[in-house]
Amino acid sequence: TALTLGMILSAYLAGSISSAVLVCRLRGLPDPRTQGSGNPGATNVLRIGGVSSAALVLFFDMLKGALPAYIAFRLGLDSVSLGIIAIAACLGHIFPIFFHFKGGKGVATAFGAMAPIGPELALLLMGSWVLMVLICRYSSLAAIVTALLAPFYTWYLDDRFVLPVAMLSALIIIRHKENIQRLLKGEESKFSRKKTPKT
Ligand code: G3P
Repeated sequence: TALTLGMILSAYLAGSISSAVLVCRLRGLPDPRTQGSGNPGATNVLRIGGVSSAALVLFFDMLKGALPAYIAFRLGLDSVSLGIIAIAACLGHIFPIFFHFKGGKGVATAFGAMAPIGPELALLLMGSWVLMVLICRYSSLAAIVTALLAPFYTWYLDDRFVLPVAMLSALIIIRHKENIQRLLKGEESKFSRKKTPKT
């Protein structure tokens, strides 16, 4: 319907607003696309600008997923439409029309889009991600493992949303192809920025 199409388009356009690039620009930090991993996301902004800038990026990137998913849910759209709208938000973040189609990995946005399903799911996803980070110190690996678990958690908690969640998870994992290659080669970067050794 026209409503669903309008929601898909607005989710994509809102998703295309790169919080990482804008927060860094506003705070006089270097462009995240040219520093660290080169990824315009909260993890890389943490490397470049520290916790408060990263938290801002995380918040706005999550909002880009949470708002359209929540609105679509309140409008009573079916779960396939919900999934497509959530995917559109993530695709905006990953291939932003306003930033030469070079965006991030969609982790925060996908998490934001899954969060309205319920606080239990949100807590399980956050818990899994934090636990994985504590174990391995790789933001990317934590995101991949959490994305793999998400459809199972959803199936357990509210099986109406398994399909849209699995769609989002697949997108996140595919988008981490380069991270997976780096992880396998032992070349993936962890959270902290590389400190220059003191002499
Ligand atoms: O959220 C993106 C994360 O999974 C990987 O980020 O900067 O380590 O490639 P980065």
